Amino acid sequence: MSGKLVVVSNRGPYVIRGRNKERAVGGLVTAMEPVVRATRGTWVAWGGREGGTGEFSGDGAGYSWREVPLSREEIHGYYYGFANRVLWPLCHCLVDKCDFSGAQWRVFVEVNRKFARIAAAESVEADLVWVHDYHLPLVPAVIRRQLKNQKIAFFWHIPFPPRDVFAILPWAREIIVGLLGSHLIGFHAPEYVENFCQCARDLLGARVDPVQGWVEYQGRRTRVRALPIGIDVEKFETDRRRVEVAGISRRLREMLGVEKLALSVDRLDYSKGIPERLAALELLWERHPEYRGRLSFIQIAVPTRTEVEAYRLLKRQVEEAVGRINGRFSDGKWLPVYYLYRGFSQAELALYYAAADVALVTPLRDGLNLVAKEYLIARGRQPGVLVLSKFAGAAAELHEALLVNPYDVEDMVAKIRLALEMPGAEQLMRLHLLQQRVRRRDLRWWVSSFLAQLEAREAAHHALSRSAAGGREQAY
Ligand code: UDP
Ligand code: G6P
Repeated sequence: MSGKLVVVSNRGPYVIRGRNKERAVGGLVTAMEPVVRATRGTWVAWGGREGGTGEFSGDGAGYSWREVPLSREEIHGYYYGFANRVLWPLCHCLVDKCDFSGAQWRVFVEVNRKFARIAAAESVEADLVWVHDYHLPLVPAVIRRQLKNQKIAFFWHIPFPPRDVFAILPWAREIIVGLLGSHLIGFHAPEYVENFCQCARDLLGARVDPVQGWVEYQGRRTRVRALPIGIDVEKFETDRRRVEVAGISRRLREMLGVEKLALSVDRLDYSKGIPERLAALELLWERHPEYRGRLSFIQIAVPTRTEVEAYRLLKRQVEEAVGRINGRFSDGKWLPVYYLYRGFSQAELALYYAAADVALVTPLRDGLNLVAKEYLIARGRQPGVLVLSKFAGAAAELHEALLVNPYDVEDMVAKIRLALEMPGAEQLMRLHLLQQRVRRRDLRWWVSSFLAQLEAREAAHHALSRSAAGGREQAY
């Protein structure tokens, strides 16, 4: 890449609270922080607070972060509003949770324009502007109108739903046109590429080829690719070794005093299937009393989007379920469910990953799910079983996990039992294959494969314009 990288996303590396900066939690930040750091790029993002200075904050991390200031009205209309009350539930196929209101959409458009203005001001033509996620789909087309030759890429980190679901959105066309301002759009799974292409064809009348991976609209061609994001494997291996040496996870196990430990790590989001998971565990302890006293479950639930009603309801629902299960089964010495409602650093998560025999990663739907990959690497040579939802993007890669339908409580109980009873040798065999794949397709692989797609595109474009100056197809 000849110029610098300008990353544009709603969530930045930190949430600013008064004078303090807290690390933001979520897959996007986990993945992009090392990338912006390694490339010494610029990060254009919101600081998670009302107002903000709009200035650069050099944080000594080797990159600069330009905070996008947002007013209270903008935060409510754009972030808590259209992004998280419409696009998030719609893309997770949870249509009954959508609240389509025109006022939210208008704020969303304005805020997208604001991000685009700031990103354009931070870029020169040689730079790559890399926009991320469902909060900012209009940014590519806005920048493109202003800077015709700017290199723009987009990564959509959540599921892209089937056409019939996406078409419910009154502004479906505008979202797709916005995204098509990019040269390249990445998704985590082939299914999302197909869904996007179908939407572009049926809602815009674009020419598409989901197999070759392109969409052509108004004389411009955009590449579309499925590239599942990876994790920083070295970092998780280092954390694992540190935890092993310190023996902390062994002490945690001794303290809990159980033979088997299951773990889930999620933001407290309704897409993560937490009530469904608790219902399955409750049924397991009810039907199979032999697991009482032997199996405990830790649910780490990170507070998220707490101003949205559906998230508040979920919190109550989960707390009630945990209270009910613990009330029903605990015997004074043994506790079935440990519910930790807070965020942990990744170094702390390594301890929990190392302590858990089974990870329950059972979202109702998930763009990819990094926790699944992190657990696998954090096991090192210890056995461990991943129970993974069929509806997580990661399931397209992690076939040796125990795949489950999170809506089917019987299937959940059966797979959890299978995980608890799986012989050590089989656990290690599956783990080894899964770890190999996660190591091969790590974060560096993801970034370089994504950027290579852009370079290949540029090379094709140059060849095309040299050999057929004035030819039919205008590449961008
Ligand atoms: N995470 C964290 N602290 C926590 C819980 C989660 O740092 O207490 C991180 C976790 O390690 C992972 C990310 O947050 O990298 C969650 O990403 P995932 O793709 O699993 O789900 P998302 O939250 O993006 O929907
Ligand atoms: C998902 C989204 C990210 C988002 C993260 C955390 O991973 O794809 O864009 O940053 O959740 O959610 P939040 O609303 O706290 O940014």
